[in-house]
Amino acid sequence: MPKVSLTVNGRAVSADVEGRTLLVQLLREKLGLTGTHVGCDTSQCGACVVHIDGKSVKSCTYLAVAAEGANVTTIEGLANGNELHPMQAAFKEHHGLQCGFCTPGMVMSAVDLAKRNSNPSEHEVREWLEGNICRCTGYHNIVKAVQAGAKAMAGAKAAAD
Ligand code: FES
Ligand code: FES
Repeated sequence: MPKVSLTVNGRAVSADVEGRTLLVQLLREKLGLTGTHVGCDTSQCGACVVHIDGKSVKSCTYLAVAAEGANVTTIEGLANGNELHPMQAAFKEHHGLQCGFCTPGMVMSAVDLAKRNSNPSEHEVREWLEGNICRCTGYHNIVKAVQAGAKAMAGAKAAAD
């Protein structure tokens, strides 16, 4: 059985996996990081989005062995201790969080967008989140939250620079 070694939320981990094991299975079943969800298993819903080397990826269609040596961040790794990540805080403040099932994937996708575009238009957010499905169709607040979170991330980065 192949062994995969990677960094997850800043922690070095290694695990024996089958060649067909998906990254989402490694995260949820071997590492107990159940904030990453499986909604469709067919790369459509976005509930499983994590970051690999800073970029959003659907972990239900990514082989665990392909993550060898990578730096993976899941929703559990976003907050700084008790302090929410600016995107998480924006989702809370703007009621972008509804059921909680799609939210981790939405937030992870949104953080990636905000790193590329600190002031996305409503259209740009909707286009970016095309691969993240909210079954309650409450996209309006999600879009507002993403725009606010992107601004907050840019502000936090400017303050740190
Ligand atoms: S579970 Fe991965 S996209 Fe739906
Ligand atoms: S908020 Fe998760 S499905 Fe709508």
